Amino acid sequence: MSVVGGVRRLTAPDIRARKGGAPVVGLTAYHAPGARLADEHCDFLLVGDSLGMVLYGYDTTVPVTLDMMIAHGAAVVRASRHALVVVDLPFGSYEEGPQAAFRAASRIMKETGCGAVKLEGGCHMAATVGYLVERGIPVMGHVGLTPQSINNFGSFRPRGRDDMESEAIAADGEAVVSAGAFALVVEAVPVRVAAALTRAMPVPTIGIGASVVCDGQILVTEDMLGLMPRVPKFVRRYAEVGAIASDAIARYARDVRNRAFPGVENTYAEPGIEEPETDIPDDEPNAAAK
Ligand code: KIV
Repeated sequence: MSVVGGVRRLTAPDIRARKGGAPVVGLTAYHAPGARLADEHCDFLLVGDSLGMVLYGYDTTVPVTLDMMIAHGAAVVRASRHALVVVDLPFGSYEEGPQAAFRAASRIMKETGCGAVKLEGGCHMAATVGYLVERGIPVMGHVGLTPQSINNFGSFRPRGRDDMESEAIAADGEAVVSAGAFALVVEAVPVRVAAALTRAMPVPTIGIGASVVCDGQILVTEDMLGLMPRVPKFVRRYAEVGAIASDAIARYARDVRNRAFPGVENTYAEPGIEEPETDIPDDEPNAAAK
């Protein structure tokens, strides 16, 4: 458990203990500014491998590497102090077996300082989840639509719409939670499937496209802020930050072209001439970025 500036960071057991209590709030965070904005409002921040699509422009999460996850995970831990930080194990770093998963997960824990990892998969991952948990690594499970399996699924369509798939998802959830997962992400499934899992699981279910019946929710921050051109049906856009940013950039470009920027207030004066007040000290040119 870490305490920074008098704030005790939430842990995996804290999240687990929320089963049946106040809904658990999660958002993705990939970098320091995002973590700073979300930290005080969220119970956990997920450094999701969705960063491959959102930040790097890949079509899927498959190309994301362990080094990418570690660099982004460390930035999110540095910039947060309240929320549990959970970092995704990327495709290829854990599927080979429990020992490979331990090597990848222990690097993530050591090099980022995060409090837990997340991995995708159900019955076939139960042994790996147990191996990690027994060795000190809290694991969040992830069932339903598991985007790292996109090449098996063929599309990002919802899962569990027929009896065979919904029974498989129920068995997957049961397997990873029995193996020791402290919470379970349930992605893109109908209400009936999410409700059955939420009733059956002794740990919080965290829905994304899995309805309000789950014990908590997570969204990709850039989706809910209106920074992505297209979002799935399950996303509510809480702001249109993309439109605000685009307008700001257009005004900046116009000011540069008209020589209206920089103004005197952005300019260093000659010695002996008093400068207009700004909130950035002279000797700290990067203060605005801190
Ligand atoms: O990578 C990610 O952002 C995720 C969430 C969508 C749950 O796994």
